[in-house]
Amino acid sequence: MNTPSTTVSLHDFGNFLRDIWYFGLPSADLKPKQFKAKVILGEPILFGRTSDGTPFALRNLCPHRGIPLHYGHFEGDEVICPYHGWRFNRHGQCTLIPSLTSDSDVDPKQFGVLSYPVREAQGNLWIYMPAKDRQAPEPALEVPLVPGFSATTQPQAVQKFIFPGHLDQVFINFMDPAHAPFVHGAWWWRTRGKLFEKAKTFDPSPYGFTMRRHPLLRKSWAHHILGGHPEVEIIYRLPGIRIETNYTDRHTFCFLITLTPINEHQTELTSIFYWTFPWLAPLKPLLAPFAREFINQDLRIVAKQSEGLAYNPPLTLIKEADNQAKWYYQIKREYAKAIQEGREFVNPMKTQVLRWR
Ligand code: FES
Ligand SMILES: [Fe+2]
Repeated sequence: MNTPSTTVSLHDFGNFLRDIWYFGLPSADLKPKQFKAKVILGEPILFGRTSDGTPFALRNLCPHRGIPLHYGHFEGDEVICPYHGWRFNRHGQCTLIPSLTSDSDVDPKQFGVLSYPVREAQGNLWIYMPAKDRQAPEPALEVPLVPGFSATTQPQAVQKFIFPGHLDQVFINFMDPAHAPFVHGAWWWRTRGKLFEKAKTFDPSPYGFTMRRHPLLRKSWAHHILGGHPEVEIIYRLPGIRIETNYTDRHTFCFLITLTPINEHQTELTSIFYWTFPWLAPLKPLLAPFAREFINQDLRIVAKQSEGLAYNPPLTLIKEADNQAKWYYQIKREYAKAIQEGREFVNPMKTQVLRWR
């Protein structure tokens, strides 16, 4: 940690963490009796919701001949495969094979499809990705929550992006303070290329680390509209969760970023906004393009970086400005090790002040 720089390579991006919750989709995107097909960590997933609103997730492949189940339909609360009509309940259990004769000794129940634990909170649907091809028991791990909002809160706004890069690459971009003046130097954000000395305290927090809550000294345009004496806190958490909370004297504005790998080369980013400012809702159509452009600036730089990473160059992490990226790798490695060894995760990160310009 005290060496001036560390060299890593694309290979260090390594495998995705398993036995952990990933963001699946916004709750509002899945109505009762609807399917949503997605690819997560390279696995085809079928999200569904029964008529009483219970969400579920199954491997999106029929165990008979492999057709994706989202081409089928709901009958009652069961999924019907479009090819030969096999039926599956929300636990993935096959309940009927239409071609079987009444005296057949074949038991449909033996042809299940893998089901994934799902949980819903704050308008987000999370999916637990177990070690490959393993049916996961109900996980003890909690899903990530944004602070200061109840479990039944719904987000005020959601935006989605597909980043052309590996999860690690994209997540590190969002914990990297040194790119902001160069990548986000638009007139409405800050003055391009103008550098200020900064010192921020970081503490360990569940499955990650947190930039300790502190007053904003130099207010950006966006912070001016929040008014009062704004303070900010940023939580980073495995596997790719960033929660920025801005507090003013009376109100809270929370910006949640979730990263879910589609595969090694593509990562879905969802920005989810929660706030308590009553007057902010009517401004949504005005502010949405700015929020989108801000993330698109990151997307464009990550796309360019991916061009270079295709050659697998060694990468350099320097001290202070890149320490958060180093912590991320350490925390990720420890999580994988703890799972492998069947023990509690021990956060390797220690409270530290980082300085950069
Ligand atoms: S492929 Fe699904 S029932 Fe045959
Ligand atoms: Fe950025």
